[in-house]
Amino acid sequence: MKAAVLYEAGGPEKFIVEEKPVSQPGPGQVLIAVKAFGLNRSELMTRKGYSPNVKFPRVLGIECVGLVENDPSGEFAKGQQVAAIMGEMGRQYDGSYAEYVTVPKHIVMPFKSSLPWEQLGAFPEMFQTVFGSLHLALNIASGDTILIRGGTSSIGMLATQVARNFGLTVIATTRNASKTELLKQNGAHEVIIDDGNISAKLSASSAGIDKLLDLVGTFSLGDSLKCVKPGGTVCMTGMLSEQWSIADFAPMEYIPATVKLTVYDSGQVTLEPRHFQNFIQDVEAGRVRLNVSGVFPLAKIAEAHALMESNQASGKIVGVP
Ligand SMILES: NC(=O)c1ccc[n+]([C@@H]2O[C@H](COP(=O)([O-])OP(=O)(O)OC[C@H]3O[C@@H](n4cnc5c(N)ncnc54)[C@H](OP(=O)(O)O)[C@@H]3O)[C@@H](O)[C@H]2O)c1
Repeated sequence: MKAAVLYEAGGPEKFIVEEKPVSQPGPGQVLIAVKAFGLNRSELMTRKGYSPNVKFPRVLGIECVGLVENDPSGEFAKGQQVAAIMGEMGRQYDGSYAEYVTVPKHIVMPFKSSLPWEQLGAFPEMFQTVFGSLHLALNIASGDTILIRGGTSSIGMLATQVARNFGLTVIATTRNASKTELLKQNGAHEVIIDDGNISAKLSASSAGIDKLLDLVGTFSLGDSLKCVKPGGTVCMTGMLSEQWSIADFAPMEYIPATVKLTVYDSGQVTLEPRHFQNFIQDVEAGRVRLNVSGVFPLAKIAEAHALMESNQASGKIVGVP
């Protein structure tokens, strides 16, 4: 099979697309013929060498959609449509930037859809992260007002639509004023230009913000906590600023009284396949519009990573082997 192998950390040019043997599934594993895979920011971090647990050489790729090639247990039929997400794929063992991937069965989700693979490839990680952040971590309710920090990211764009469909008022941020119209067309009721200190700008209306999804990370988290009303909830799901920790974290000073701070990590939560199938039906029916901003063959994986790093994508980037 063809696979994009990373022998060492560095720029996008470090990917080498080469022939590799297909690894055969052992007990509890499933071999998937990859039809498409979404690119993820965490893979960008890994490529740059910011994932100390990932040893090179490694085939990256933490998610995919495809067809079951071989499930030794017989639970999944050959040719069945499946998605696979996380479970240390592309980190502890070779991942989905390849024609085939062998994964543990517990991360395999069956689904049915006639949508093109290039679209389906955008779904699994985005859906899992948005559903988990909004419903499990933030516990959104119709009538809430939510602020989505990092609104132009692919997660932010989908979260805006899902929250709006659920009856929330959505405020989305970008650092780049030229993306305001994009955010409004995507469903945001209001757009705020993020200079790192938006709690000051919000002071008149901050009494109304119930929930905040922070995709920028610890760089903005302190400010985000000041944006929600007393009793409101902030969920840190992303770390676009590539800043992971908070120096000298003093909770009594950092978190305003009664404000709740939580996180979402799709690696720690497994969603039921029926939620994924419902989401696919929402896309098929046009209730959710997915922004796939680029589809790249495996041979052009370096170009795909360069686009992700440029921050010009404003939607999910998909690879097709
Ligand atoms: N917790 C989980 O389970 C989980 C799962 C998936 C993804 N994530 C995380 O969610 C975040 C979003 O992922 P994605 O794939 O949707 O990202 P993406 O589409 O690649 O995001 C691109 C956007 O990020 C913004 N951005 C880039 N650097 C930034 C910075 N330093 N400060 C503020 N904004 C910045 C830019 O927005 P503007 O230029 O418009 O400001 C750009 O449009 C990432 O941090 C990713 O690792 C978490």
